[in-house]
Amino acid sequence: MIVAIDGPSGTGKSSTSKAVAAQLGLSYLDTGAQYRAITWWMLNNGVDVADPDAIAAAAGKPSIVSGTDPLAPAISADGVDASGPIRTQEVTAAVSAVSAVPEVRERITELQRTIAAEARGGIVVEGRDIGTTVLPDADLKVFLTASPEARAARRNGELKAADGKPVSDLAATQQALTARDKADSSRKTSPLKKADDAVEVDTTELTLEQVVECVVTLVEKAAAGKAGSAQNATGMEKATR
Ligand code: DC
Repeated sequence: MIVAIDGPSGTGKSSTSKAVAAQLGLSYLDTGAQYRAITWWMLNNGVDVADPDAIAAAAGKPSIVSGTDPLAPAISADGVDASGPIRTQEVTAAVSAVSAVPEVRERITELQRTIAAEARGGIVVEGRDIGTTVLPDADLKVFLTASPEARAARRNGELKAADGKPVSDLAATQQALTARDKADSSRKTSPLKKADDAVEVDTTELTLEQVVECVVTLVEKAAAGKAGSAQNATGMEKATR
C-alpha cells in the first residue's frame, strides 16, 4: 500500500501522514526533510545556495539517510543528525532554491523511490510531487489544501513549539509561506501540483483528528479495492487455465 500525500506548507501534511502511518502500521517518509537536509548540508559546507550550478555540482555529495518510523522520524546528512537544524529559518529560506535544481531532485527522487520500494507492508510518503512524479502509481493520492490564513496560523504554532519562542507576526509568516509556495509551484522540474487522480481534502475547517480519520478511510477503501482487483485477477487467471 503506497499512499502519496501532497500539498503546500501548513496544510497538516506531516501531522496527518505520521498519524495515518502509525494508525495503520505503515512506514512514513518526510520528503521535505530530505530537501531540508541537503540544503542544511550545503549551507554548512560553503555551497553558494544562490548559484544553481554550485548546487548542482554538490547535489551528489552528502549521504542523506531517512528513518521511516512514523513515531520517531529521523534524518541525517553525512551521518550527522539533522532533525533539529533543518527546521531553522535559514534552511527554510534556502530550501526552495535548492530543491528547484534538477540534479538535486533527481538525486532525492531516486532515494525516495528506493525507500518506498523497500518499505515492507506499505508507506505513507508526504511531499509536493509524490503523486505526480515520484510515485505516480501510488495506490492512493491525497492532496491537502487549506486557506492561507489557516496555514499561516498553524505554521506559527509550530514555530513556537520548535524553538520555544512565541512568533507573533502572523502576516510575516503568511507572506513567507505564500512566497515559498509560489516558488515551489512555479519551478520547472516537478512543481507542487495536484495529480489528476488525487483526492483533494480541504483541511481549513477540520481538526487534525478529522483529517486523519478522513485519510484513514480513504486508505482503507483503496486497500479494499486493491484486494478486490487482486482477487479478480487470480479468478481470471484460474478461469483461463
Ligand atoms: O514540507 P517542507 O516544508 O518541509 O518542505 C520543504 C521544502 O522542500 C518545500 O518548500 C519544497 C521542497 N519539497 C519539494 O520540492 N518536494 C517535495 N516532495 C517535498 C518538499
